[in-house]
Amino acid sequence: MRVPVIETESLARSFGPVRAVDGLTFQVREGEVFGLLGPNGAGKTTTVRLLNGVLRPSGGRARVLGLDPAQDGCRLRQQTGVLTETPSLYERLTARENLALFGALYAIPEPDLSRRVARMLEEFGLADRADDRVGEFSKGMKQRLALARALLHEPPLLFLDEPTAGLDPEASRQVTEMIARLSRREGRTVLLCTHHLSEAQRLCDRVAVMDRGRLLALGTLEELSRSLGTGLQVGIGLQAPLPDTAVAALRRLSSIGDIRYTSLQLQVSVADEEAVPAVVETLVREGARILSVVPRQPSLEEVYFTIRRVAQDASCATEAIP
Ligand SMILES: Nc1ncnc2c1ncn2[C@@H]1O[C@H](COP(=O)(O)OP(=O)(O)O)[C@@H](O)[C@H]1O
Ligand SMILES: [Mg+2]
Repeated sequence: MRVPVIETESLARSFGPVRAVDGLTFQVREGEVFGLLGPNGAGKTTTVRLLNGVLRPSGGRARVLGLDPAQDGCRLRQQTGVLTETPSLYERLTARENLALFGALYAIPEPDLSRRVARMLEEFGLADRADDRVGEFSKGMKQRLALARALLHEPPLLFLDEPTAGLDPEASRQVTEMIARLSRREGRTVLLCTHHLSEAQRLCDRVAVMDRGRLLALGTLEELSRSLGTGLQVGIGLQAPLPDTAVAALRRLSSIGDIRYTSLQLQVSVADEEAVPAVVETLVREGARILSVVPRQPSLEEVYFTIRRVAQDASCATEAIP
């Protein structure tokens, strides 16, 4: 197996009493889009800063592109592109000037630099505004320019921290499309922090869910939903209300998760499709009049909230122990 692009072991960082990152161990493989999900304050931005060598860890280790970010931050940042939560662009310079200035900092020689800047402006839909001041740009345009800037030196690894935060749906979709394109077409490794779950589902090969500095879960959407027992949601349409005993009979089946029943609709989560015939048989035996059975994979949003609920239940259970 190839060496992971990012590898952390018990990585930790505290700010006074706050454990912003609290023992993270994970790997990011070459070419994948890896999502870091979690509510505000979960520790996503701190993780990015640790991995990029902007902050020193208070415990544990990280290797990024074969380097230790705490020791070799400068060399590392030559090979990474970063889009921070609030990208600082020079508002009084034009889009072209912003990119050219950044390229010069990265010592990209002329005429390479001018060509590359023109190509990026074109690709990011900013060519017609290239010589306008950035201060006059919309938030979506600024974010596209910031993304172009993060890519200008053609880094193999990109850190994108909330790239669509505060954008309207249209601008947000444009940025998402761009990220999808550059990961699929150009094969870059991307670490994406977001709390937009549909965006994560669209873009990420694997996700890690964080809360209070810790990792609650990690995997592909399928792996996560299987491990939570929410492998498949089965929607069952009924012609008549269920007999009282039917739901209780369903609960007695093994491999059944949540059951929700409202008027003529039943939602049952099962481990996988092997469990569906037993659900239908049980319902028919209990006198249910079934109109339709529609299985579907749960969304990342459903899986995410199940992960959060399981974690909360677990922490309530530990807190209850005297
Ligand atoms: N420079 C800092 N000084 C003090 N506390 C910080 C600093 N940066 C982050 N924190 C704290 O660390 C925790 C994690 O923050 P952050 O990594 O920004 O989370 P996220 O990006 O997931 O919203 C929060 O409680 C935050 O207040
Ligand atoms: Mg953040």
